Amino acid sequence: MKFKNKCAVVTGSGSGIGRACALAFAGEGANVVVADLNVQGAQDTVRLIAAAGGKAIAIETDVSNPSSVEALVAQTINTFGHIHTLVNNAAIQVNKTIEDTSFEEWNAQLSINVGGVFLCSKYFLPYLRNTRGSIVNMSSVNSFFVEPSCAGYCATKAAIAGLTKAMAIDHGHEGVRVNCICPGYIDAGLAEGYFQSQADPEKARKEAGKLHALWRIGRPEEVARVAVFLASDDASFVTGASMVVDGGFGSGLPPK
Ligand SMILES: NC(=O)c1ccc[n+]([C@@H]2O[C@H](COP(=O)([O-])OP(=O)(O)OC[C@H]3O[C@@H](n4cnc5c(N)ncnc54)[C@H](O)[C@@H]3O)[C@@H](O)[C@H]2O)c1
Repeated sequence: MKFKNKCAVVTGSGSGIGRACALAFAGEGANVVVADLNVQGAQDTVRLIAAAGGKAIAIETDVSNPSSVEALVAQTINTFGHIHTLVNNAAIQVNKTIEDTSFEEWNAQLSINVGGVFLCSKYFLPYLRNTRGSIVNMSSVNSFFVEPSCAGYCATKAAIAGLTKAMAIDHGHEGVRVNCICPGYIDAGLAEGYFQSQADPEKARKEAGKLHALWRIGRPEEVARVAVFLASDDASFVTGASMVVDGGFGSGLPPK
């Protein structure tokens, strides 16, 4: 029970990796705030947590909208009185080259994927400072090892890795740690969207598995366990880190 009587806010936790993180923090005793644009998904996550004996609330949030994020912060503090962990996980992915990406799609990726990290961190920092809490940002192996036809997305994930280091050095002396996770392919929404954008989604899924040294894609819980570690006191001397959780994807191409 590493987070007993503590509060964790997870953005984009109405599905996929975010939902797994919300469940993992609740499993460690945290009161969890499930913040997502998708209210139905957020409520389903809350139900799953309650069914497992945990405590969570759903808050409809658009991480790219300053007033929505301010409302998230106010509701979190009104309900639980404090916050110890912020997981900035919400993101979208446009599977296109820069030439095919519209200006609106480019802006949407920047404002949700990077702007969301900025806004949530900015407005939760005063409270995280009070608890000497920590931030876990969801980046990607695509922050340093890119793939075709998701240029804007790769740019946002590299920006998150940079922002993680910058925030770590700005706030480390205040006791706030900031790290990011770089997952490989994980069986969740964004990877599924990528597979579906390919001519043969099933083939694309199989081929993606073989890009990893372990010859499979990962499970959301395998990322969630690392998020819990990074946010916990077990990682008390870890800050500014990009933690790779990629089944060996970034190590190089495995044998065929
Ligand atoms: N799935 C993968 O293979 C993979 C790999 C590397 C990194 N990641 C990262 O993990 C994170 C989660 O990805 P996933 O695959 O679980 O995706 P997902 O689509 O299952 O979940 C993303 C969630 O974010 C929410 N969201 C989208 N826009 C939002 C907004 N403006 N405000 C609030 N919530 C919003 C969605 O409603 C959704 O519930 C992302 O940051 C992604 O970049 C995923």
